[in-house]
Amino acid sequence: MPKTILLQLDTDPLPSVFDRVVAVDAGVDELFSYGGVTPANVTSLVHGAMFTRGPADLKSTAIFVGGSNVAAGEELLTAVRNTFFGPVHVSTMMDSNGSNTTAAAAVLAARRHLDLSTTTAVILGGTGPVGFRAAQLLLSEGAKVRLVSRSINKAAEATTKLQGLVPGCDATPFGLTASGVSKEVLDGAELIIAAGAAGVTFLTAASWQGLPSLKVAIDVNAVPPLGLEGISVMDKNVMHGQVICYGAIGIGGTKMRIHKAAVTRLFSSNALNLDTDEIYLLGKELA
Ligand SMILES: NC(=O)c1ccc[n+]([C@@H]2O[C@H](COP(=O)([O-])OP(=O)(O)OC[C@H]3O[C@@H](n4cnc5c(N)ncnc54)[C@H](OP(=O)(O)O)[C@@H]3O)[C@@H](O)[C@H]2O)c1
Repeated sequence: MPKTILLQLDTDPLPSVFDRVVAVDAGVDELFSYGGVTPANVTSLVHGAMFTRGPADLKSTAIFVGGSNVAAGEELLTAVRNTFFGPVHVSTMMDSNGSNTTAAAAVLAARRHLDLSTTTAVILGGTGPVGFRAAQLLLSEGAKVRLVSRSINKAAEATTKLQGLVPGCDATPFGLTASGVSKEVLDGAELIIAAGAAGVTFLTAASWQGLPSLKVAIDVNAVPPLGLEGISVMDKNVMHGQVICYGAIGIGGTKMRIHKAAVTRLFSSNALNLDTDEIYLLGKELA
């Protein structure tokens, strides 16, 4: 077998150290890291990965797309995959700003305690990369999702996009009111995932811990104050009142395991595209 080579294409000027460490821990033989990669300059980098090894050995080369800007990562991934033709391609994975692995880890935490096919879930900060992906995964499991944004129009745009990704899904948009998250959003919710921007608090401890229907609460924000007052970043299957809670570090172990396993999986074929759904499926295999 030839050496495994991971081509790390990062949209930030300096390629992520975090993603590099995970690649090394996943056992990649050689890591080629490039920063400042854009759709305009990526083609020659991808050609270098595509045209150097024979068909049987192409699976030993793979591409990881990362960086802090998730929209830029999505565009870069499309450009990378548009460069492929016929059988000449390598496997790809996209995890800009940890969006796919974090969403997968959050939904897997919820899945340990709930039958997602009958769950009513609230996603706070649901228009962001992590919240949107968590909504997508919950909907694909058959859950009902109430997606919350400061702007009802943004929430509606997101739910329309989700209906395209998961046909027939039950996604409802909500805007924050002047007093915050409305009673209508919370009534009957069994799961809350707080995925707002760092430092944004959506609910006081009393307002979510007092909800009779609520079974699981997950906050993916690692930087205090958290989105759900009273949750700790370290919480992992910790009860607050009657609610099972997870914080960002509490789901972190699962996130890291998924990330590492996904990098390893890249070298099993030259035809994989590990994005939101595929990364979650892999996480389910590990669970
Ligand atoms: N644990 C991990 O390993 C890990 C990995 C990645 C990310 N994270 C954390 O996960 C969270 C979500 O990540 P992300 O990249 O999706 O976040 P993001 O894009 O920065 O923010 C998510 C959403 O928060 C809402 N928001 C922003 N400012 C707000 C405010 N002042 N009040 C209310 N809502 C506000 C925005 O929605 P609207 O504009 O529609 O209201 C935005 O789309 C962040 O806290 C991030 O730090 C954790």
